[in-house]
Amino acid sequence: MKRIYFDNAATTPISEEVIEFMSDLMRSHYGNPSSIHKEGREARTIIETARKKIANLIGASIGEIFFTSGGTEANNMVLQCAVRDLGVKRIITSSIEHHCVLHTLDAMEKETNVKVEFVDIDGKGKVSLAHLEALISEDAEKTLVSLMHCNNEIGTMIDLEKVSEMCVEHNVYFHSDTVQTMGYYPINVDETKISFLAGAAHKFHGPKGVGFIYINGENLVKPIINGGSQERNMRAGTENIYGIAGMAKALEMSYGNLETTREHTLGLRNYLKNQMVEYFEDIQFNGDHEGDFHFKTLTVSFPSSPKSEMLLLNLDIIGICASGGSACSSGAEKGSHVLEKIQADPDRKSIRFSFSKYNTKEEVDFLIEKLKTIVQVKEAVS
Ligand SMILES: Cc1ncc(COP(=O)(O)O)c(C=O)c1O
Repeated sequence: MKRIYFDNAATTPISEEVIEFMSDLMRSHYGNPSSIHKEGREARTIIETARKKIANLIGASIGEIFFTSGGTEANNMVLQCAVRDLGVKRIITSSIEHHCVLHTLDAMEKETNVKVEFVDIDGKGKVSLAHLEALISEDAEKTLVSLMHCNNEIGTMIDLEKVSEMCVEHNVYFHSDTVQTMGYYPINVDETKISFLAGAAHKFHGPKGVGFIYINGENLVKPIINGGSQERNMRAGTENIYGIAGMAKALEMSYGNLETTREHTLGLRNYLKNQMVEYFEDIQFNGDHEGDFHFKTLTVSFPSSPKSEMLLLNLDIIGICASGGSACSSGAEKGSHVLEKIQADPDRKSIRFSFSKYNTKEEVDFLIEKLKTIVQVKEAVS
């Protein structure tokens, strides 16, 4: 049975070109980049070429890009380094950030004297810029603002430029978790002043277990993983050269096809959205679905019914991958913190469909046809 993959916000399939590129390197280059012989030097060149590519794609200098094991490590590193090395005493964030930010902040509040404050968000997951401005205008101690560019569960985005301007004006550090948007939206740190960014290759058709952090050159921080002198003493451990090279290739391909990917993916998202409304009873959408939303993500909220409880499982059985969540009211079952914070109705079932350049309209049609057998169809069309 052919499987249909509508879970591209969770991870994306690696593109064939990246697989080819990585396998060629795996066969031909096994040297340790820290070795001084030819094999080592060649491996080092692969890493530095990748760094240059990534730096160029986001308008950074090569000295501002450091490779990590993914988005989680990059976000951990920003938050920990900002407090430990830059003297940050206050972090302003939102309650709907990824757990790799929220759980890190929880731990840091217990272990350090940093104070965490939450900016208001509305029912669509939109950050209140007025509240953010009020918070950063306070004559407080050294502050870092950490806000994700796009929420992974509901697709709501922040205005990176506006937040950056605000942070520059008030002289506070700005970190953005750009794991969902890297490779999908142009990001240029030369034009938009940002202190830190986090990226993960597996979200843009690259390999898993590799990512990067952008650290603006003015911010002098120390490593959180100690050992050898890799990554210019910023992250110890023999580099994942194939992952790093594959990530750079994937990012280059993504930015090379930005408009085509956006048009295709947005088309599928909007098509599914219209079909949902046309055929099914009482459909809602989570997040800022008509405003600032990621073009690859559509989170559909289905009315409560015995069938909708099992929706995700039923979709999986018929060959369709998506992600689900619900706001948890009882506290007994661990629901989605994002849906809970945007005060989504805990009785409704949310399914996130997220698309990529590899999806087709026929796949969306297949999904709709299958949903008609599981979800309450509108009377007029039944
Ligand atoms: C917004 C966001 N931040 C961070 C992460 C973590 O990235 P990784 O899985 O590469 O550690 C994810 C991945 O799900 C994400 O969507």
